[in-house]
Amino acid sequence: MPIRTCIFDAYGTLFDVSAAARQAAAEPGHDRLAAHWQTLARDWRLKQLQYTWLRAVTGAHADFWDVTADGLDWALEDCGLQGDAALRQRLLDLYWELQAYDEVPAMLARLKEAGLDTAILSNGSPAMLDGAVRSAGIGDLLDDVLSVESVGVFKPDHRVYDLVGQRFGTARDEVLFVSSNGWDAGAATGYGFVTAWVNRAGEPVDRLPWTPPHILTDLTGIPELARR
Ligand code: LAC
Repeated sequence: MPIRTCIFDAYGTLFDVSAAARQAAAEPGHDRLAAHWQTLARDWRLKQLQYTWLRAVTGAHADFWDVTADGLDWALEDCGLQGDAALRQRLLDLYWELQAYDEVPAMLARLKEAGLDTAILSNGSPAMLDGAVRSAGIGDLLDDVLSVESVGVFKPDHRVYDLVGQRFGTARDEVLFVSSNGWDAGAATGYGFVTAWVNRAGEPVDRLPWTPPHILTDLTGIPELARR
């Protein structure tokens, strides 16, 4: 089936999740963060994701903002920065205005020119996603922004992926699902979407029962892939 709808994960795929720690580290007064920002960014992201999986498996849902703050608190403590309340607040504030990767606006514009529907499908809460989409200025290039909050469980629960067919009326194999998270791209492959894993960091393929058929280093090739 031809692709009719392109669905994007948000954090790490369209928006650079390392940008908050990188930007805060460059600001005056954050010398201690400057020495640790890459470790902090990695651990923050890892804990944030681990907490989503654990909450999904146990049924103890909390929204992505709470989970993001919990992950940050763990990462700050592990770096010995837990006492710096102003730094914590600055990092959380920056999460609302993450930069989009450079190629995102032109890539989405090409998909729209080709007549495809485009949307985000994310763990993010509606308010967080609204902030990120506004700050990146890409709202006009998206037909919708779908949040897991409408089903109250995180990815990769299939009820999250079901939101796409419910919104766009597409069969699973008419959807190109794009994620920089290997586990998300893998699970969406198992669900039946056509998938592309955006592997910017050159990571190994996740050892899961499903492997994404398309692996790219950034998003520039997505319009061509969608037209195949
Ligand atoms: C999201 C996370 C998983 O946007 O990156 O859903």
